[in-house]
Amino acid sequence: MSLRIHSFEEYTQVYKKSVDQPEAFWAEIADNFLWQKKWDQVLDWDFRKADTKWFSNAKLNITENCIDRHLEKLGHQSAIIWEPNDPEQHHRKITYKELHAKVSQVGTMLKNNGVKKGDRVCIYMPMVPELAIAVLACARIGAIHSVVFGGFSAQSIADRIQDAQCEVVITADGGFRGTKDVPLKNVIDEALVQCPFVRRVIVLTRSRTPVSMIKGRDCWWEDEIKKVEIMGNPECVAEPMDSEDELFILYTSGSTGKPKGVVHTCGGYMVYTGYTFANVFQYEPGEVFFCTADIGWITGHSYLVYGALLQGATTLMFEGVPNWPDAGRFWDIVDKYKVNILYTAPTAIRSLMGFGDEPLEGKDLSSLTKLGSVGEPINEEAWNWYNEKIGKRKCPIVDTWWQTETGGIMISPLAGLTPTKPGYATLPLPGIQPCLVDENGNEIEGNGVSGNLCIKFPWPGIIRTTYGDHERCRTTYFSTYDNKYFTGDGCLRDEDGYYRITGRVDDVINVSGHRIGTAEVENAINMHADVIESAVVGYPHNIKGQGIYAYVILGSSLHDHDLTRRDILQTVTRIIGAIAKPDKIQFVSGLPKTRSGKIMRRILRKVAEGETENLGDTSTLLDPAVVDEIKAGAL
Ligand code: WT7
Repeated sequence: MSLRIHSFEEYTQVYKKSVDQPEAFWAEIADNFLWQKKWDQVLDWDFRKADTKWFSNAKLNITENCIDRHLEKLGHQSAIIWEPNDPEQHHRKITYKELHAKVSQVGTMLKNNGVKKGDRVCIYMPMVPELAIAVLACARIGAIHSVVFGGFSAQSIADRIQDAQCEVVITADGGFRGTKDVPLKNVIDEALVQCPFVRRVIVLTRSRTPVSMIKGRDCWWEDEIKKVEIMGNPECVAEPMDSEDELFILYTSGSTGKPKGVVHTCGGYMVYTGYTFANVFQYEPGEVFFCTADIGWITGHSYLVYGALLQGATTLMFEGVPNWPDAGRFWDIVDKYKVNILYTAPTAIRSLMGFGDEPLEGKDLSSLTKLGSVGEPINEEAWNWYNEKIGKRKCPIVDTWWQTETGGIMISPLAGLTPTKPGYATLPLPGIQPCLVDENGNEIEGNGVSGNLCIKFPWPGIIRTTYGDHERCRTTYFSTYDNKYFTGDGCLRDEDGYYRITGRVDDVINVSGHRIGTAEVENAINMHADVIESAVVGYPHNIKGQGIYAYVILGSSLHDHDLTRRDILQTVTRIIGAIAKPDKIQFVSGLPKTRSGKIMRRILRKVAEGETENLGDTSTLLDPAVVDEIKAGAL
């Protein structure tokens, strides 16, 4: 069976087969990939233990599938096109042949620096091709990459490096984003004060910002590459990996505690990202795919890098931001490289929509054939604008629902095949068995219903564990509802059986398509010397989807309140990163708590939303008067 589905009828048939005979179905899909040794068993699972294994005892290397197997036919095609932050600077095009050579070189460089199979490597880099190359080089030699988004603070990096016990870090002197020069190496230096076990830091030259290089620990990427050249660029053989060997760790926020390291493994992740890329985007040979996500997030991992390369696509990587030098930047890039598929987030669409039609003038977008959306619910207005102004009503839009934990797209139209409806992620992909459950864990059958979204059967891209703490994986995802994976999302299934994701039902906020745990933000705010207690909730935000609203009880300091507000923002920036800064901070004298001391977040959410009338039952509150004060002071 070939990988690609070509019609909606075929989708219906394939879907049925995938549910009736999942193992036979995935075995046939997996046959489209290159395995050094085939599996003994397709699937082995027990959701009650959070255990899933795909393609047991098979051997493969994902980079052979991403690169080597394309060399004969696509060796001279661009694998990566790179557009720099500054449009005046030269762009780069890297063919599959060149990518092969570079990944091999960097793989050898890592080995020269003592990196072995199974070692964890932290990557904290700007959006330059060397980031994708570093990721692939780790995969080539069997090292486990842990990419940390360049916007996270030193403290967040230290937490992640400690959790995964990374002994090697790859970074750059700095990175450019719009008008900003982000001092990446300096941030790493600050993080490493808490990580004395890090023995090597490899630093790429990008921004030429001054950095301190520590003797014995730090070295320049370019010098290390030179050493590989002097060795005569030996071919770095692709390490034979077991299907269930760990490929990478990616940290993501939840409703409690520190971010968890979501672990994906080699075989299943490869099959799932390759399969979903081909089908959701209906990728045709030669098309240019532009995913605007940073590689620091799962979208960048699964579609900018792995999914696209697995299918021999040309993937476009952009270093900068959508609104610099002006709000026409995405459209300039589409025009310049004749982009065929654009995959971006609703927050970017809404923000660019706000600039009106002017940034679109004179931009040729006629190369576009398919559009994608990811990361948060897309509102109808943004969907329509995307459809009309960008797709000129001739490009299907795929609203793709998935999560860091799912590895790849789960519910989505197949571009041009599945009839779409604005705001709907539509139907599950083959192999995906979604269900809605009520508070008691009972499955809600039929159409025209809503509930909590669960998945009742494994798929190859499913999370395998949370790094170093399997029990946390089990309790977070597999214990809320018996024998089901719980997504944390609320969802509606309409009369046609179409799915519409309505948003998180747990204490997680989705800011500009990025997940932030309320508890995490509260912990950061509470670090401020004059904060006694805080409670954080999300509220609807025109551009970001959700904004962060913090209610804060201050101590007795005489420090000016406006300064304190600013200092709290600074504290959050230092502890987590600028992405977690509250949009609004309201100082209160108390929080609405029940007699057992639990904060009634429902009330805080309503006030943050601007609702002051129907706050529901407040009779169980310890001090109902506090609600009046909160309402009166609402921002
Ligand atoms: C959460 C996952 C998946 C890559 C980017 C985010 C929300 C994601 C959609 C969509 C409505 C969506 C969900 C999900 N989400 N895609 N198409 N429609 N909501 O990955 O950081 O792991 O966040 O993003 O709430 O649970 P993530």
